[in-house]
Amino acid sequence: MKIIICPDSERVAGVAARLLADQVRARPESVLGLATGRTMEAIYRRLVGTVRAEGIDFSAVTTFNLDEYVGLPGGHAQSYRHYMERHLFAHVGVDPGRTHVPDGAAPDAEAQAVAYEARIGRAGGIDLQLLGLGENGHIGFNEPLSSLASRTRVVTLARATLAQNAGMFGGDPSHVPARAITMGTGTILEARKALMVVTGARKAAIAARAIEGPVSATVPGSALQYHRDCLVLLDPAAAAALTQRDAIEWQMRHDAELAAIQAGG
Ligand code: GLP
Repeated sequence: MKIIICPDSERVAGVAARLLADQVRARPESVLGLATGRTMEAIYRRLVGTVRAEGIDFSAVTTFNLDEYVGLPGGHAQSYRHYMERHLFAHVGVDPGRTHVPDGAAPDAEAQAVAYEARIGRAGGIDLQLLGLGENGHIGFNEPLSSLASRTRVVTLARATLAQNAGMFGGDPSHVPARAITMGTGTILEARKALMVVTGARKAAIAARAIEGPVSATVPGSALQYHRDCLVLLDPAAAAALTQRDAIEWQMRHDAELAAIQAGG
């Protein structure tokens, strides 16, 4: 894992957007793995600005989102398909036929999950996977105790996740769909590059466990320690519980790749 602690959350969003833009510029037919959640909103806002300002061509890009609520059709205001249209797809000229979000309204959700995994394979796998981190350590909707080898499947959401996401459903956790389709932790680990973005004091403890703690199904995000090319971007609040701060800052100053990323954000 390589880690950058940015000066603030705006800078985190800027660096993440820059890395996504650079990926598409370097390989216009990139397959991007995308995420949802509040952390991603600032990143997509910055990315849309960069795409427009620099004329980056998204027409050959293919996207696969991590997850979707079971039971929500793509047109539902709280669906992740709707989130993606609103925050990114409508603004960057991506071919709608190349955007993939699991179909939460599919009559057979399990079959939909299996088909989704197969479609990622047919696209040649994911070049760059963007990830957030849930307050309980989930990545995508791989909740604590998800197998580290899990594939795209239907999962039951954790109580903590229902509470964390209740704000989007009128504040009532019982209104949050109880199940979701998510790429598996094993699926995520197969992306050629991973970019995890964590901001805010509420994530400090879980960020430290994911980055520095033992690799454990209890904290699915810790599986990224096994990823061969994973970059983690943090703001100072999310980095507050890290114990290896000196080592991280040394790498930030002396690792050529990290120095270039910081300079380019
Ligand atoms: C959500 C999503 C995750 C996301 C995480 C953090 O439930 N399924 O993909 O990364 O929780 O969300 P936020 O950025 O809003 O804290």
